[in-house]
Amino acid sequence: MNLQGKRILLGVTGSIAAYKAMELLRLLTKRGAEVQVVMTEAATKFVTPLTFETLTRQPVLLDMWSLAYSHRIGHIEASQRADLCVVAPATARTIARLALGLADDFLSCIYLASRCPVVVAPAMDCDMYEHPALQENLKRLRDRGVRIVEPDLGPLASGLVGRGRLAELADIVAAIEGVLLPVQDLEGRIILVTAGPTREPLDPVRYLSNRSSGKMGYAVAEAAAARGARVILVSGPTALPVPPGVDVIHVETAQEMYEAVLAKLAMTHVVIKAAAVADYRPKQKAERKLKKEQTVREIALEPTPDILAELGRQKGHRILVGFAAETDDVVANARKKLQRKNLDLMVANDVSQPGAGFDTDTNLVKILDPQGNIEEVPLLPKRQVADRILDRVAALLKK
Ligand code: CTP
Repeated sequence: MNLQGKRILLGVTGSIAAYKAMELLRLLTKRGAEVQVVMTEAATKFVTPLTFETLTRQPVLLDMWSLAYSHRIGHIEASQRADLCVVAPATARTIARLALGLADDFLSCIYLASRCPVVVAPAMDCDMYEHPALQENLKRLRDRGVRIVEPDLGPLASGLVGRGRLAELADIVAAIEGVLLPVQDLEGRIILVTAGPTREPLDPVRYLSNRSSGKMGYAVAEAAAARGARVILVSGPTALPVPPGVDVIHVETAQEMYEAVLAKLAMTHVVIKAAAVADYRPKQKAERKLKKEQTVREIALEPTPDILAELGRQKGHRILVGFAAETDDVVANARKKLQRKNLDLMVANDVSQPGAGFDTDTNLVKILDPQGNIEEVPLLPKRQVADRILDRVAALLKK
């Protein structure tokens, strides 16, 4: 019953393998999942909605133009309720729809509206499967973080023998479990994550800060907790909810962040510094609000402590991960910081790229290590970028 309480949307499309979706539905419900079926019109030529309706005891989502499903907008509600969406079997046409973001049926609208993980299990004739158009569409989906369960080799409905048979249902279930029930590879580890901007006050009303939203650091904290780590999040001011199971320490200035991090340092195995710490602060903070006539035209600044550089000096066996948000010479600058701050990994991003950097839900990063390797991570939601970073951390912890 390891999928107990999980809400899964099962998309069924017009392939001869559509009948296998019934058995998949049974395997998922047997594990405790609550499954809602969505069919394309082509799928109804192979199996009837009634079969799925009888098995799930709820209406199949099929007709975009019906309000029968809900008093609200059906595809939006369905996608928001789901923990995962699986399309099995997925035809070449549906894969193209998803890759292009066409919103011309219930299933593709749900895909566009959803923020949950997506698993796609293709099934088609081998020549169609091998066609570059199909492979490019699959690559697009993969790069977007969709988990593709490769079809199997074997005899096909056409009489040909090749790759295109829907994967074994056990493999599709395993892929779903892998996405929904992350490995506990950080169990027993204490990970400190910093996130958000710092604020350096000028007076009780004004401050110097930066455009960090904290989304990347919060995503790392959430992902690390989901993988079994005990997470301490030292957060600058953000508007984000604290992820479940994470201990948070709220700070405002770089100095406060420095003190909070150093106070917890001895107990940590890993420190991931996603915060955008101010490098300078006003030399003086006025006790009372500065009035217009007395406001200085120039602000004298002094450096803040470089927290990560200090951690690098006290490194020991601890794993240190830094972030470098750059607009020019991204790799060269990130590499210099990796060496200067004595880090194990540096996550570099070009904040001038669309979809990357501050206040976006996605990020486009490169992960650098001291051996000179560069892992190019495609544009992904920050939560998935977080998992890519933690995959590297978990591998280092195993050494
Ligand atoms: N960092 C820190 N303390 C500071 C400044 C930065 O701990 N006072 C950390 C950040 O959290 C990040 C890494 O150092 O993980 C790199 O931050 P960045 O601002 O890019 O580097 P700087 O060394 O400040 O270089 P510059 O601002 O000149 O690019």
